[in-house]
Amino acid sequence: MLDIQKIRADFPILSEKVNGKPLVYFDNGATSQKPQIVIDAIATYYQEINANIHRGVHTLSQLATDAYEISRVKIQHHINAKFSHEVLFTSGTTHGINLVTNGFASILKPGDEVIVSALEHHSNIVPWQMLCEKTGATLRVIPMNEEGELIMDAFEALLSEKTKVVTVNHISNALGIINPIKYIIEKAHAVGAAVLIDGAQAVPHLKPDVQDLDCDFYAFSGHKMCGPTGTGILYGKEAWLNKLPPYQGGGEMIKEVTFEKTTYADLPHKFEAGTPNIAGGIVLGTAVDYLNNIGFDNIQKQEEALLEHATKRLLEIEGLKIYGTGKNKASVVSFNIDGIHPYDIGSIIDKLGIAVRTGHHCAQPIMNFFCIPGTIRASFSFYNTIEEIDTMVEAVKKAKTMLS
Ligand code: ALA
Repeated sequence: MLDIQKIRADFPILSEKVNGKPLVYFDNGATSQKPQIVIDAIATYYQEINANIHRGVHTLSQLATDAYEISRVKIQHHINAKFSHEVLFTSGTTHGINLVTNGFASILKPGDEVIVSALEHHSNIVPWQMLCEKTGATLRVIPMNEEGELIMDAFEALLSEKTKVVTVNHISNALGIINPIKYIIEKAHAVGAAVLIDGAQAVPHLKPDVQDLDCDFYAFSGHKMCGPTGTGILYGKEAWLNKLPPYQGGGEMIKEVTFEKTTYADLPHKFEAGTPNIAGGIVLGTAVDYLNNIGFDNIQKQEEALLEHATKRLLEIEGLKIYGTGKNKASVVSFNIDGIHPYDIGSIIDKLGIAVRTGHHCAQPIMNFFCIPGTIRASFSFYNTIEEIDTMVEAVKKAKTMLS
């Protein structure tokens, strides 16, 4: 088992007090906390090698370029991509998804279909809606059941030769449900559709193997996996990245520019116009190393224990209902208490030092499905403890008494 106290000591913020109480940070689904090694690596970059990349012959530019490209290769190995040029640096999952939807604008035609799921975050709904509006393609939705699981029979019934893209999240941000993405990818490929997986909520908990999954695109954010904000990765299969047009025009993404015609750079630079978040990209590699040193098996064991304890303890509270009761779940508990608005519980427990997210979690269709305005979402990380869960349960009980 992990030495949780030793791990917690890596995260300076975890010994902070909030509202005079020791911080209990259960908003990891929104963003994770950062270990000292990541915080230090940002300062080291600016103190020692700050320079623009891929541009200068001078030493610092080469050092920065090497560090950036080493990080790309580290991430390639982490997700088991075949080539490092299939790994694009982005500002986050939203950027990655928009890069793909922008590219499909020149591919989709009226009558084509795009399938999303009922479990998506807005960032994996709205860009596809915009794409459909632009191209005349039709958006179809895989429905969910009361447990918060996608209904696979209904998904298969939606598939046809009209289906050009299927996109689902690996793990639902609002409910924590883990989707059967390998099966979804296989079925989508059988009708010739491309598949994008939104891995934003998965990468803090598991190591995706993009070759084994055989997905065409896998987008994720760095800041949910102990890395800096404003960082992310879009994995794309080489053939698809060659086929899609560039997302943004600018410096660094060109081969040759004349006023008559511009030719584009090879992958990955074709999709990396402008000066990127250099420090962020390098330090995302540091975060990936940090997580791999802890080990994803260890992370999963700890998070499973937290999920089990939280589910059991929360259900002791009368009138509490958990949303997302499917079997295959990450360490997220989304709940409400009869007759009480989630915001009120969230505000009271914040005064007790407990950080949770309340509201629709950028997944309004899920809230509409359950006919609720939102939920209280406690999302756990490997650095959380059983004692912190007990503290939250007592705080929720107290809030319930105050609000009843
Ligand atoms: N997508 C993030 C969340 O679920 C912000 O909280």
